[in-house]
Amino acid sequence: MTTDAEGGGSRRDFLNIVGWTGLGIGAVAFAWPLVHQMNPAADVLALATTRVDISAIAEGMNVTVMWQGRPVWIRHLTEEDIQTANAVDLNDLRDPEPLEARVIQSPWLVQIGICTHLGCVPLGNRSGEPRGDFDGWFCPCHGSHYDIAGRIRRGPAPRNLDVPPHEFVSDTELLIG
Ligand code: FES
Repeated sequence: MTTDAEGGGSRRDFLNIVGWTGLGIGAVAFAWPLVHQMNPAADVLALATTRVDISAIAEGMNVTVMWQGRPVWIRHLTEEDIQTANAVDLNDLRDPEPLEARVIQSPWLVQIGICTHLGCVPLGNRSGEPRGDFDGWFCPCHGSHYDIAGRIRRGPAPRNLDVPPHEFVSDTELLIG
């Protein structure tokens, strides 16, 4: 048989448990929006990667896509491009990189279309634009010339055009980011 004291104690324990449980739920409920807002939003995640159908990019063609607010250039290299790039003596380069170090799957050259000097967007990715002294890309801001592998050959830019993280999901689909 339960005494009043025992019964009162049991009720207090029950109220305490309910009270702490309520506080716990309240704390989680309070913290959840804070934790949740620290997760990247779905639209941010979507912008973190860019998928490109490369099936229609013919040999010798350049295409520009946007990735994380930056232009990314995709060039379908020709056999002549590859031979020209491979014929360059790496000792002549400011930022020595063989073509194969810049291309994860030939014949696709994927690079960020931003000059590594002060961040202008060079010319040469659209047909009819000047391509510089090395038949690649040319930044008119201060005169940086890049070759057909995106390597700096002349002018103030300190390094080659950056290659973004990317992979080929299939023969026709490129994933950037
Ligand atoms: S920003 Fe391209 S040469 Fe200066």
